[in-house]
Amino acid sequence: MSARRVGQATKTAGADTAYARLAAPAEVGDEERTLDLSLRPRTLDEFVGQARLKTVLGMSITAARQRGEVLDHVLFFGPPGLGKTSLAHIIARELGVNLRSTSGPAIERAGDLAAIVTHLEQGDVLFIDEIHRLSRVVEEILYSAMEDFELKIVVGSGPSAHLMPLAIKPFTLVGATTRSGLLSAPLRDRFGQHCHLEFYDRKELAEIVRRSARLLDVKIEHEGAEEIAARSRGTPRVANRLLRRVRDFAQVHDAPVVTREVALQALELLEVDECGFDRMDRAILEAIIDKFDGGPVGIETLAAAVSEEPDTVGEVYEPYLLQEGFIARTARGRVAMQRAYDHLGRKRRGTLL
Ligand SMILES: Nc1ncnc2c1ncn2[C@@H]1O[C@H](COP(=O)(O)OP(=O)(O)O)[C@@H](O)[C@H]1O
Ligand SMILES: [Mg+2]
Repeated sequence: MSARRVGQATKTAGADTAYARLAAPAEVGDEERTLDLSLRPRTLDEFVGQARLKTVLGMSITAARQRGEVLDHVLFFGPPGLGKTSLAHIIARELGVNLRSTSGPAIERAGDLAAIVTHLEQGDVLFIDEIHRLSRVVEEILYSAMEDFELKIVVGSGPSAHLMPLAIKPFTLVGATTRSGLLSAPLRDRFGQHCHLEFYDRKELAEIVRRSARLLDVKIEHEGAEEIAARSRGTPRVANRLLRRVRDFAQVHDAPVVTREVALQALELLEVDECGFDRMDRAILEAIIDKFDGGPVGIETLAAAVSEEPDTVGEVYEPYLLQEGFIARTARGRVAMQRAYDHLGRKRRGTLL
């Protein structure tokens, strides 16, 4: 018999605060985090899109349950707002185990990690968000915890110091990171399952918008949902944020239903253009083209030019601009592509037209 309790998955508030901030190019506050929680899909069925990932994950969850075994460690890669935290919660819920949630920067010392893992029950899920931000020392202790369910604690000091193994109950580590390249190879290798989250297509985003509208009691026409979806940068969190703003707009303007027209007017007011770019996206493209002659320009220099943190530019803004072919990454830095020139109405210098 395993010590599993169904439906007891718990949420640790505040664990993905820093992350939520990263995922929110514009403003983010408590309101957004509360909204994130209330709109979060609870089961794999409710989770829209990522079909292949859902099939694979669903299969291993079912298999682990049937065998009464602990699920292999899972690593989620992908830009902010695509559903990594939601999936961690879903895994715990579908397994019927507890979830303990923390983040890389929150685990400062080896003792912090020891305190967490020694309190886990058999089969529990430990979710570490921003796992690439773990310190080296903590990361190394995590290796044996993941592999042998054993903590190697240093006892004593000086010449008498020695390692004492401490057994912990088998658990599932779910890690989330924004870019696979940021994770050390030894840590990456200890995850049995690697899941890449992709940007969502418009159809999926429209479905997410309609689902969220239902939950928020907002009446929305199909065309209204599609307009929001088209401008959500492939990202559910952005879709939900835009929906919330459109809802405000509709309320203030006494519009009982969000039609395409209502959505368009609201989005225009928000300065979200037809590609879903906000001011910062445009500032980045403008900087590469106008200040750096189309590039290549290094990420640090580029970030300084738009007064933003290099991490935020690299993790929040760049992935979508890359995926949509507005910019490209070269060995010497970022370059603007033809689409960027077209979008901003600039002519490319130095090319034969
Ligand atoms: N596949 C999805 N289906 C429905 N809603 C989603 C999906 N993925 C994300 N969301 C919504 O987007 C919000 C952000 O998701 P989250 O899991 O916090 O992303 P991440 O951890 O990758 O930054 C969630 O609150 C949820 O409302
Ligand atoms: Mg998250």
